[in-house]
Amino acid sequence: MQLLHLLPLAASVIAFPHLSEEYAEFVKRQIPTLPLSQNEHNSGPIDSLVFDATEQFVDVRPGTTHEYRDPGPNDKRGPCPGLNAAANHGFLPRSGITTLEQTVTGLGAAYGFGPEFAAALSAFAIVFTGDPTRGTWSIGQGYSPGLLGGLLSNPSGISFSHNNYESDASPTRADAYLNNGDAASLILSKFESLYNKAVDGEFTIDILRTHNKEVHDFSVQNNPYFFSAPFAGLVPPIAHHFVINLMSNHSAENKNGFLTQDVLKQFFAISGPDGAHVYNKGKERIPENWYRRPSSNPYGAAAAGADVAILILRYPDVIRVGGNTGTVNSFVGVNPGDLTGGVFDATTLAQGNNAICFALQASQQAVPSVLKGIVSDITGAVNFLAGKLNPVTSSLGCPQLPTYDTSLFNQFPGYKYKPKP
Ligand code: HEM
Ligand SMILES: *[C@@H]1O[C@H](CO)[C@@H](O)[C@H](O)[C@H]1NC(C)=O
Repeated sequence: MQLLHLLPLAASVIAFPHLSEEYAEFVKRQIPTLPLSQNEHNSGPIDSLVFDATEQFVDVRPGTTHEYRDPGPNDKRGPCPGLNAAANHGFLPRSGITTLEQTVTGLGAAYGFGPEFAAALSAFAIVFTGDPTRGTWSIGQGYSPGLLGGLLSNPSGISFSHNNYESDASPTRADAYLNNGDAASLILSKFESLYNKAVDGEFTIDILRTHNKEVHDFSVQNNPYFFSAPFAGLVPPIAHHFVINLMSNHSAENKNGFLTQDVLKQFFAISGPDGAHVYNKGKERIPENWYRRPSSNPYGAAAAGADVAILILRYPDVIRVGGNTGTVNSFVGVNPGDLTGGVFDATTLAQGNNAICFALQASQQAVPSVLKGIVSDITGAVNFLAGKLNPVTSSLGCPQLPTYDTSLFNQFPGYKYKPKP
């Protein structure tokens, strides 16, 4: 157990120049520029109408509670720059092992993240990648919870939660299969491709959506194991929206926020001048002198759902459930109707809250099969998740989901691919 614990740390120092070149080559073939999605600024589908410097200032000055500190050798850091930065500033426990309550409070204070969304995402993290018997989860590598209790093996952490949480076609991380199972490390050429899309040094939601389309196409064209599950497959597209909606700086002149290249670099642990960027793994920062979105307009599940619906209208294939069948460019889609006994349908997924309802509910249905062999009390875990998730799905007006048939996924080798540290 102790050895297994150290392996991910050892693996983290390996660089992947080969993949980096492949990606750089791919982005030379440009995706045509599409018109900007009308009227959407950096706050998501609902504009921020107020700016209150005192309320929105995130005090990370050296010497204060939330000063930046490098993670220690046993602290967990993983694929999510938002969580890594929050932990490096003590908005989450600096150990990287957190609870649902700590996550809700910490992400609200650091980013203006919606409490009900933070609770639902934490509940998924606890059930799929953490310790449902104690209510903890790791923002990075797996951990030993001490006595296993009702757990049959150590929690994986979100770093090794492929297809349950972590997924292909991420903004700056590699596909697990293309990177020896490591989907937590940033690929510099992928970051550069995003960084270089800035217009006048700043980013818009359209730029992030175009980047999302590009990384999706790269994965379909290069990863024979590319797979996009109903819930996990939606995490990278939502993460593209998190960059704009949660990392933008705010001011009286710019109430919706604006995101500069410098702020992007700090959140993604990149230092050095243009042309000589360096990735400092695990050292993501909340910039000094940075103002988060207002608490009166948190980014929650409904806002993320609406953003995904806009994305679907623009780039429908980006959120299609399905995968490659063992060779590159062999994508086969699975109709949500076939998975859910007709409750959801591919043609209506962009309407209302259908996309986010489908993702949340499909994943909830998958819990028993995912947890088989991991926890002894599956019913307890199912009930725990239902308790946190049902308030969200009912507030979104989601329909009941009586059946969920995952046998349709067996044709995809990427569905069965489970990288371990
Ligand atoms: C409970 C809350 C959260 C959970 C459970 C969570 C989990 C994750 C996971 C599992 C990934 C990897 C997905 C992938 O394969 O691309 C990820 C990626 C990401 N997350 Fe989070 N996250 C949370 C909150 C946040 C917040 C508050 C932010 C922004 C401030 C954020 C920004 C991002 C970004 C930008 C990525 C993409 C990383 C990349 O590929 O460059 N997340 N998150
Ligand atoms: C955030 O915006 C304010 C107002 O324009 C500015 O003074 C501050 O330097 C910005 N912070 C960062 C980290 O760029």
